[in-house]
Amino acid sequence: MSLPKTSLLRLKKNAYLRDMCDTISFGQNQLIQPLFVVESVKGQEEIPGLRGNVRLSEESAYKQIEADIESGVMQFILFFVPKKQNSESFNTDYSTSVMHKIKKQFSGAANFWVDTCLCSSLDTGHCCVHHDSGQINLEKSLQLLAKMALELGQAGADGIAPSDMMDGRVAAMRGALDKAALFDIPIMSYSTKFASAMYGPFRGAADSAPQQGDRKAYQLDVRDSIQALEASRRCAEEGADFLMVKPGMTSIDLIPQIKAQTGKHVGAYQVSGEYASLVALEEKGFGDFKSLLLETWCVFRRAGSSFIITYGARDAKSIMEKL
Ligand code: PBG
Ligand code: ZN
Repeated sequence: MSLPKTSLLRLKKNAYLRDMCDTISFGQNQLIQPLFVVESVKGQEEIPGLRGNVRLSEESAYKQIEADIESGVMQFILFFVPKKQNSESFNTDYSTSVMHKIKKQFSGAANFWVDTCLCSSLDTGHCCVHHDSGQINLEKSLQLLAKMALELGQAGADGIAPSDMMDGRVAAMRGALDKAALFDIPIMSYSTKFASAMYGPFRGAADSAPQQGDRKAYQLDVRDSIQALEASRRCAEEGADFLMVKPGMTSIDLIPQIKAQTGKHVGAYQVSGEYASLVALEEKGFGDFKSLLLETWCVFRRAGSSFIITYGARDAKSIMEKL
């Protein structure tokens, strides 16, 4: 039997042809490594599920960053986890002092984004503050978020990444930064962020599990594709420089749509549960972790993702050898 006139088999005949048809080539430039810097930790602590990632003390964070840069990491997103401060008037002393020292030591050697949210600082574990009635106190939440963004920007963060999903937070942060003449600090918004069951390992790592209730009153509902797009359009209108879908793997369909509607760079956050599921596949003997990870990264690129936040960024060099 001969091949059909328009055969797709012929094009894949050998590695030369397959490599030639690569439309998604990418490297470390596109990958961002998360880091958890935790005030209460001495040395470092394992994070169940997140192989290769640990909760770091300040001192071990400096060592980790140095080693990561050595192995090719170019961008980080920092999660500062202060000791719980128990009220709405928490300060950012811990985060800003560590940020400042990281910047002093590594300025220019890598790009440091900082996740800005209230959930790791508030004892409620929520990304906002509430009125006594239980309603979200938007005004106060925005004040605290903008203050946090400003203080981290002043401490040397290269970019701000708001992950709270409040109305108006990008505008509030942009306003606070601009007022302090920090015009050149970009905002990478978690713009389309769903209420998801995929954040499990992260919440342990960042001490950010809600003590009561869930995040469905502010994170997106997976069933609603209208708001999924509107949320990113809104961030773009408020001045976000980069947009993001999260969880990445389960939001892959939205990347091209958000790009088309906003004309902005859109990235994907391969979240803790997604990464952990690939670890688990290997542990169960069902797959090779590096191959699984690389396959997912390729799909993010194929869908049009400009950048990928992934817990495996530091292993990219050895993983890409498989490409
Ligand atoms: C906090 C935040 C979360 C993640 C990033 N920032 C958790 C949440 O919103 O519940 C999830 C990251 C991950 O699971 O890897 N606002
Ligand atoms: Zn949060």
